Amino acid sequence: MSMEWKAKYGPWALVTGASSGLGIEFVRQLASLGLNIVLVARRKDRMDALAQQMRETHRIETHVVAMDLTAENACERVAEETSDLEVGLLINNAGFGLSGSYSDLDPQRQANMTVLNCVVPVLLTNHFLPGMIDRGRGGLIFLASTAAYQPTPFLGTYGATKAFNLMLGESLWHEYRNFGIDSLALSPGFTRTEFTRVANIQDAGAFREATVDDVVATAIRKLGRQPSIVHGWTNKILAFSVRILPRRMVMAITGAALKGRTSH
Ligand SMILES: NC(=O)c1ccc[n+]([C@@H]2O[C@H](COP(=O)([O-])OP(=O)(O)OC[C@H]3O[C@@H](n4cnc5c(N)ncnc54)[C@H](OP(=O)(O)O)[C@@H]3O)[C@@H](O)[C@H]2O)c1
Repeated sequence: MSMEWKAKYGPWALVTGASSGLGIEFVRQLASLGLNIVLVARRKDRMDALAQQMRETHRIETHVVAMDLTAENACERVAEETSDLEVGLLINNAGFGLSGSYSDLDPQRQANMTVLNCVVPVLLTNHFLPGMIDRGRGGLIFLASTAAYQPTPFLGTYGATKAFNLMLGESLWHEYRNFGIDSLALSPGFTRTEFTRVANIQDAGAFREATVDDVVATAIRKLGRQPSIVHGWTNKILAFSVRILPRRMVMAITGAALKGRTSH
């Protein structure tokens, strides 16, 4: 499998949000498959330590790009920093959530979140996709969420950013499947990372939290096999059930569930 991955998606993978949670695990699992990794996030110390560990353990190359992806011209800078690297796999993972009553949330933070969760994947995909098309091979992963499958009262803007990633990831799967390029929209449910603390959401409660290892292993297994994947059986059933229930009922149930878990 390792050689296959390097040939199909290598030699370089770029992971945004590589300093925490799912991003760290993407770095680990892709490095173990023999890919060189570009790590992008703000916290440089964490990425430097992880990059060194990956070089020593897997004999791969790494490149750390420490930056705030919501800053002006950030994606152009990522492009410059990687101009001499053949990036065949783009993991659009960096993202955060904001919970609470809509009018209580800071408008600038909501806009920043939309830039990070949506605009940055659009810009980075636009930058790296033409090279993949020329080479006739490549991969794109978009971080959607179980929040993407229905409206999410008290988490409205965040849910909308994840719906955006679900739709985009699936659309590109269809458009580029005959170009040797695989696209996958990955939807984790509650997963143990720093996400809930940043988003100010109480922990998973009745839901069983997934581990980052399982979620990333699922993504690696499913890339190239299907346009999107919901991780975990309970999450799969929920994502399916919202398609057959009346939307108002779905909103009422989701709103009641999220009201108790968010600061509103
Ligand atoms: N955990 C869950 O339950 C869950 C469920 C569904 C979907 N997701 C999605 O999974 C993705 C990863 O989240 P996670 O759970 O791993 O959360 P996390 O542990 O909070 O990690 C978020 C990552 O994004 C980076 N990031 C945040 N703001 C940034 C900025 N302005 N510029 C550059 N990088 C930035 C962070 O790095 P720095 O702080 O160092 O910049 C960090 O590496 C997100 O897109 C999230 O929406 C998570």
